[in-house]
Amino acid sequence: MNFAVFCSGRGTNLAALLDAHEAGRIGGAVPVAVVCDSHHAGAINVGRERGIYSTFVPRTAYHANRDGFERRLLEVLAPLDVDFVILAGFMRILGNVFLSAFPNRVINVHPALLPAFPGHDVWRKAIDYGVKLAGATVHFVDEGVDSGPIIIQGTVPVFDGDDADELADRILTVEHKILPQAVKWLAEERITLSGRHVSVKGVDQPTRYNNCIWPPFDFDYLNEHHD
Ligand code: GAR
Repeated sequence: MNFAVFCSGRGTNLAALLDAHEAGRIGGAVPVAVVCDSHHAGAINVGRERGIYSTFVPRTAYHANRDGFERRLLEVLAPLDVDFVILAGFMRILGNVFLSAFPNRVINVHPALLPAFPGHDVWRKAIDYGVKLAGATVHFVDEGVDSGPIIIQGTVPVFDGDDADELADRILTVEHKILPQAVKWLAEERITLSGRHVSVKGVDQPTRYNNCIWPPFDFDYLNEHHD
């Protein structure tokens, strides 16, 4: 299963994917292209240093012409036999021209527990709102803003006094785990989509259950007697 990675930023999620591939942790998923929509995207160097075909498709060259931008993205991918597209810090909304060419085959990592805090500057918004748990989401991409069916989420606590950068760094560690996991499931064809509901074959739900409760209880909950 070949995949392309679209990036706008520095590319730590891309690096996590490439590390996972090199370590044999994403099954038969093979990175074949990195596409950056801005010449400022450091991710291009991450791709090139790892020997992955890496190229720019600058969004600004297309001004208000999103369809033209998306057709160019499709042209770049056409010779590469791409099965899936991974948005890893890609700060553009894709529309029907692109998505109809990859139905349910585009996924995105977002640094919030969707549907809370879609869009931009989500770490600041989560802190300002006063949430106790934040996290990251990997989801299928539809034409909305961070609105597609959810594949996997992971949580982190928000500490008193956190600033946006501290929270972003904590969430990023989760992104680097859940994105390769989702790609592995895709490569193994274990994901089933039914409406908004995503299920993963072979995941033993009861034994994989993890609590993440924050702030922590100040009593030993498990040893309390509950009628
Ligand atoms: C990541 O936190 C990613 O979740 C976010 O951009 C950052 C890119 O970092 N993406 C979005 O906000 C998309 N809505 P990276 O370039 O180091 O992977």
